[in-house]
Amino acid sequence: MSSSVSTIRAAFDADQFRALGHKLVDRLAGYLGAATGGAKMPVMPGVSNEQLNAAWSSRFQRGAGRFDELVARMVAGSNHLHHPRYVGHQVPPTLPVAALAELTVALLNNSLAVSEMGPSGAAIERSLIEWMTGAVGWGAGAGGVLTSGGALGNLTALLAARQAKAGDSWNDGTAPRLAILASEQAHYSVERAVRVMGFGRHGFVPVPVDETFRLRASALEESYRAATRAGLTVIAVSASACSTATGTYDPLEEIAEFCAAQGLWLHVDAAHGASALLTKRYRGLLKGIDRADSLVWDAHKMMLMPLLVTGVLFKDRAAGAGAFASPRASYLYEDAPDAADEISRRAFECSKPALGFPLYAALSLYGVDAFGQYVAGTYDLGRRFAEMIAATDDFELAVHPDANIVCFRYTGGRGKDLDAVQARARKRIVGEGAFYLVQVRLPAGLFLRTTIINPFTSEEDLAGLLTAVREAAA
Ligand SMILES: Cc1ncc(COP(=O)(O)O)c(C=O)c1O
Repeated sequence: MSSSVSTIRAAFDADQFRALGHKLVDRLAGYLGAATGGAKMPVMPGVSNEQLNAAWSSRFQRGAGRFDELVARMVAGSNHLHHPRYVGHQVPPTLPVAALAELTVALLNNSLAVSEMGPSGAAIERSLIEWMTGAVGWGAGAGGVLTSGGALGNLTALLAARQAKAGDSWNDGTAPRLAILASEQAHYSVERAVRVMGFGRHGFVPVPVDETFRLRASALEESYRAATRAGLTVIAVSASACSTATGTYDPLEEIAEFCAAQGLWLHVDAAHGASALLTKRYRGLLKGIDRADSLVWDAHKMMLMPLLVTGVLFKDRAAGAGAFASPRASYLYEDAPDAADEISRRAFECSKPALGFPLYAALSLYGVDAFGQYVAGTYDLGRRFAEMIAATDDFELAVHPDANIVCFRYTGGRGKDLDAVQARARKRIVGEGAFYLVQVRLPAGLFLRTTIINPFTSEEDLAGLLTAVREAAA
């Protein structure tokens, strides 16, 4: 046997794996303790892309690397989402047990193309989908799949809408001049899905929002009529629950009413906000969601899961199956006992890891209520942060938050270019690694945007953020 083959065989050595694994877990546990404790470490690595490109250059090809050294560099050159001062995008600090579950999934490497290839993974997925559809309030006819992210989830749901409302697109091609209505604040993946489906630039009809960035339900009728007058066939409305930029929930009940009257498919992009279904205090924000035909729910947002695990859920399981035509693949399906129902027939992916195992493990260990409390806690803190901002005379809130996304700007430098003030403040804070926060452009100008997603973030951290912005803006 050649020496390279024996190198690969040796790489499977169980004792070596054990030793590397123990060292890895020790290192990550130390990191986790320091990060969640808010140790005096920057939230971001503070190195330039050029430095990182050089550090991760093609030296890797020599094969002489040391795993613990690579992990150390990876950790040092990454953003620290477990740090309480991480208030950036809607990506959570992952639950440690979910990361361990992911390690298990990676080593087993069972694909879910057909359940024969990933027996437990497939059963877990079915169980989670049943639980998620139950949380929405749907009955036994509901169904869905887990998929790789909200963007792919939105495309999957809208493909099902097209098949349900616009003829047999899979076989006959997409009918000309189809369109969907969506809030002008919808996540970009909704418009992308429309373009991918071949509806063209007219196919995404933006519906105006009110001053709180909620889709204006009273404008649906006019948007629908205008689209129809322009020769478009509207097949669906996509609502946001909540929107990405400001975390605002669209009025689902009123939108559902409109869809029922017009015979339109209702899709709800609840990638971020569906987890509020698990709370008593905030599930009212989703009132009417059970009237949707489809929805998307990301567990890698408000359920603290590693990227990516998204539920694409359908009220009518059979309609959901219309998203994709059954592929001809005798090597997968000919001997599958329930071929029509195999996961890869209903999802875009062919090979797919056991996406649900980390979530299943976390729910099994901690229970659904713990997640409900976590989500409610972040929404509560969002409101508290908004009150803190409103109580100052040098900050302005973009909108009173529905969720844990809070947008605000520093106005202390009146007379100055406010957009430039926010941009400069953010750059300075992020550059120092004091906090990770982002920015968003709204009609009134540039705002600072925070997502309070880390269970260790406190009021004190948020007060510290306001101080940091004041100092950086000065
Ligand atoms: C409302 C909404 N929909 C969809 C997405 C896209 O999800 P993903 O990043 O998982 O593809 C996001 C991402 O932030 C989102 O906020």
